[in-house]
Amino acid sequence: MGKPSPFAITISFTSLLLVIVLLLSLRASCAAPTPTTDSVYETFVHCLRNNINSPNTSNIVFAQTNASYDSILRAYIRNARFNTSSARKPLIIVTPLQESHVPTAIICAKSVDIQIIIRSGGHDFEGLSYISDEPFIMLDMFNLRNISVDVQNKVAVIQAGATLGEVYYRIWEKSNVHGFPAGVCHTVGVGGHFSGGGYGNMMRKYGLSIDHIIDAQIVDVKGRILNKESMGEDLFWAIRGGGGASFGVILSYTIRLVPVPEIVTVFQVEKTLEQNATDLVMQWQQVAPHTDERLFMRLHLHPMISNVGERHKTVRAAVMTLFLGGADELVLLLEKEFPILGLKKENCIEMSWIESAIWWDSFQNGTQPDALLGRKLNSAKFLKRKSDYVKTPISKEGLEWIWKRMIELGQTSMAFSPYGGRMNEISANATAFPHRAGNLFKIEYSVNWEEPGVVAEKNFTTQIRRLYSYMTPFVSKNPRSAFLNYRDLDIGINHHDNNSYQEGKVYGIKYFDNNFYRLVKIKTEVDQENYFRNGQSIPTLKL
Ligand SMILES: Cc1cc2nc3c(=O)[nH]c(=O)nc-3n(C[C@H](O)[C@H](O)[C@H](O)COP(=O)(O)OP(=O)(O)OC[C@H]3O[C@@H](n4cnc5c(N)ncnc54)[C@H](O)[C@@H]3O)c2cc1C
Ligand SMILES: *[C@@H]1O[C@H](CO)[C@@H](O)[C@H](O)[C@H]1NC(C)=O
Ligand SMILES: *[C@@H]1O[C@H](CO)[C@@H](O)[C@H](O)[C@H]1NC(C)=O
Ligand SMILES: *[C@@H]1O[C@H](CO)[C@@H](O)[C@H](O)[C@H]1NC(C)=O
Ligand SMILES: *[C@@H]1O[C@H](CO)[C@@H](O)[C@H](O)[C@H]1NC(C)=O
Ligand SMILES: *[C@@H]1O[C@H](CO)[C@@H](O)[C@H](O)[C@H]1NC(C)=O
Ligand SMILES: *[C@@H]1O[C@H](CO)[C@@H](O)[C@H](O)[C@H]1NC(C)=O
Ligand SMILES: *[C@@H]1O[C@H](CO)[C@@H](O)[C@H](O)[C@H]1NC(C)=O
Ligand SMILES: *[C@@H]1O[C@H](CO)[C@@H](O)[C@H](O)[C@H]1NC(C)=O
Ligand SMILES: *[C@@H]1O[C@H](CO)[C@@H](O)[C@H](O)[C@H]1NC(C)=O
Repeated sequence: MGKPSPFAITISFTSLLLVIVLLLSLRASCAAPTPTTDSVYETFVHCLRNNINSPNTSNIVFAQTNASYDSILRAYIRNARFNTSSARKPLIIVTPLQESHVPTAIICAKSVDIQIIIRSGGHDFEGLSYISDEPFIMLDMFNLRNISVDVQNKVAVIQAGATLGEVYYRIWEKSNVHGFPAGVCHTVGVGGHFSGGGYGNMMRKYGLSIDHIIDAQIVDVKGRILNKESMGEDLFWAIRGGGGASFGVILSYTIRLVPVPEIVTVFQVEKTLEQNATDLVMQWQQVAPHTDERLFMRLHLHPMISNVGERHKTVRAAVMTLFLGGADELVLLLEKEFPILGLKKENCIEMSWIESAIWWDSFQNGTQPDALLGRKLNSAKFLKRKSDYVKTPISKEGLEWIWKRMIELGQTSMAFSPYGGRMNEISANATAFPHRAGNLFKIEYSVNWEEPGVVAEKNFTTQIRRLYSYMTPFVSKNPRSAFLNYRDLDIGINHHDNNSYQEGKVYGIKYFDNNFYRLVKIKTEVDQENYFRNGQSIPTLKL
C-alpha cells in the first residue's frame, strides 16, 4: 500500500484480512471513551501502538501539550481569521507517514468516540479542515504527498497531501508538452481541491480536475482502503465534486495528463472606468464565454484610487489571460472578436506552460519552476470569499450601478471566470459538480485584510456580504448557486447534533443543484452513522 502504482488493485485479500484482524483486536485493546483529554490521548495512542506495525507510531501523534503542537497546527492554517486562541483546536493531531496509518487512525478515533477532521492543504476558506465546534482529532495529510508521473501512459498518481505546485512541477520534470487543469495558487492541496471540483485557467479547453480523474483511493468509515472498483460507481462519482470530507479520507487520486503546446501566451490588460472599462466588460461578456476554447480570459474588478488627473475613486478592470497557442494567432483572434481590448503583440508574452503557471501565480518575472515546490508554512492573510454564477449578461446600466456600489464599499473585489467551451459539453450529472452548460461565468468575491481583531473582521465581512446582496438581481436564482471550493458558511450550515436533511438541503442545493439528492443517497449508504461530518457536509437520510 505504501507505494502507489496507477494500476494497483489496492483492496487485496491481505489488506481485507488486515482490516478484519485490526477490527477484532480493537475490541480487546481499546477501552470505552473516557471523559478527560489525557485519558482520551492515552487510549488513542495505545490503540495506535497496538495496531500500527511500525516503530515510528509515536512520531505521528501530537497532544495539545506537545511542544510541536502549535507549529504543526499553524503550518497549514491558510486563513488568519481562524488562527486564534478562541478557535476550537484539535485534541490530538495525527500526521500519517504511510497510507496504512490512516485506516488505523480512523478505527482508533472511532473507538474513543471522537470525530476526525481531515486536512490536506488547509485552504478551506472557512477553516473546516482544522476547526470544528465539537471535540475532534485532526488527520493532517501533509506527509502523504508522493506524486508518480508516468508520461508514457499519460497518468499520474497523486497523494492527497501534495500541492498543486508539486503536481505541476512533477509533470514538467518529465514532459514539457503535458499539464493538468487545476487551480492557480501553488500551495492549494490536492485533497480538498480535487474532491471539490478543481478549476483553473485551462477549464474552457479541458474542464475541471475531476474530469480527468480515473481512479482514487479512499479510506471509508470501516477503515477499508477502497479504489474505484471496490468503492463502486456511486462513491467514485461523489468524490469528484461532492467534496471528500463527507465520505472518508482520500489517500490519492489517479489522473490523466492533458496535452499542452510547447508555447503558450499570457497577457494582462487593464482599464479604469475613465478608459471605458464598462464597454470592455460589456464586450468581455459577449466574447469570453463563447470564444475559442483554448482561450481563458479572467476578468478582475477592483475598486481603487486613481491618480490620473485629480485623485478620485474608480474601478479597474484587468483581463488576465492564458491562451494555449502563440501570440500572433491570439492578437488576430482578439482584434476580430474583442476590439475594445486593443490587444497588441507587445502586450503578449510567449512562454512554456510551466512558466505560465508561475506567471499566473504572481511570482516575479524570471522565477524558476522549483518555486512551485515552496509550501509557505505558517503564513496567511485574513480573508473572506463568496461565489455566484451568472447565466445572462449584465446590462450596461447594471454594471454602472455595480461600480458605484463597489466604490462605496471600498475594498471588495470580484473575479469573473468565463465558462463555456468544454464545460458546456459535460453533463451536469456526469460528476457531483453541477455547474456546467448555461453558466456564462462564475463570480468570486474577495476581500483580504491585514489587521487582526473583531472590528476589522466585522468591517470587511459586512462589506463583502453587502456586495453579494447588491448582486442578487444579476446572478443565478432558485437556487442561487455557489461553488464548493469557495466555501462560504453564510449560505447555510448544519448544526452538528442535528444531521438535519432540511438544514443540509439549504446549502446542498446551492453547491450541488439536483446532484444533492444523489449525494445524500450515497452518503446514507457509505456512512449511515454520519461519522464524517462538518458544518456543510452531506446529511444522511434517517432509515
Ligand atoms: C490562499 C488561497 C488560494 C486559493 N486559490 C485557489 C485557486 O487558485 N483556484 C481554486 O480553484 N481554488 C483556490 N482556493 C480554494 C481551494 O481550491 C479550496 O479551498 C480547496 O478545498 C483547498 O484544498 P486543500 O486541500 O488545500 O484544503 P483543506 O482545507 O485541507 O480541505 C478542504 C476541505 O476538504 C476536506 N479534505 C481535505 N483533504 C481531504 C482528504 N484527503 N480526504 C477527504 N477530505 C479532505 C477538508 O476536510 C475540508 O472540508 C484557494 C484558497 C486559498 C485559501
Ligand atoms: C523512523 O523514523 C526515523 C526518523 O524519523 C527514520 O529515519 C526511519 O527511517 C523511520 N523508520 C521507519 C521504518 O519508517
Ligand atoms: C511530541 O510528539 C512527538 C510526535 O509524537 C514525539 O516524538 C515527541 O516526543 C513529543 N514531545 C514531547 C515533549 O512530548
Ligand atoms: C513515497 O514513495 C517512496 C518511493 O516510492 C516510498 O518509499 C514511500 O514509502 C512513499 N511514501 C508514502 C507516504 O507513501
Ligand atoms: C471611450 O469611449 C468614447 C466614446 O466611444 C471615446 O470617444 C473615447 O475616446 C474612449 N476613451 C478611451 C480612453 O478609449
Ligand atoms: C521578463 O523578463 C524578460 C527578460 O528576462 C523580459 O524580456 C520580459 O519582458 C519580462 N517580462 C515582464 C512581464 O516583465
Ligand atoms: C498565527 O498567529 C501567530 C501569533 O499569534 C503568528 O506567529 C503566526 O504567524 C500566525 N499564523 C498564521 C498562519 O496566521
Ligand atoms: C443525467 O442527466 C441526463 C440528462 O442530461 C439524464 O438523461 C440521466 O438520466 C441523468 N442520470 C442520472 C443518473 O440522473
Ligand atoms: C473598514 O474598511 C474601510 C474600507 O472599506 C477601511 O478604510 C477602514 O480602515 C476599515 N476599518 C477598520 C477598523 O478596519
Ligand atoms: C437544529 O436545527 C435547528 C434549526 O433547524 C436549530 O434551531 C437548532 O439550534 C439546531 N440544534 C442544534 C443542537 O444545533
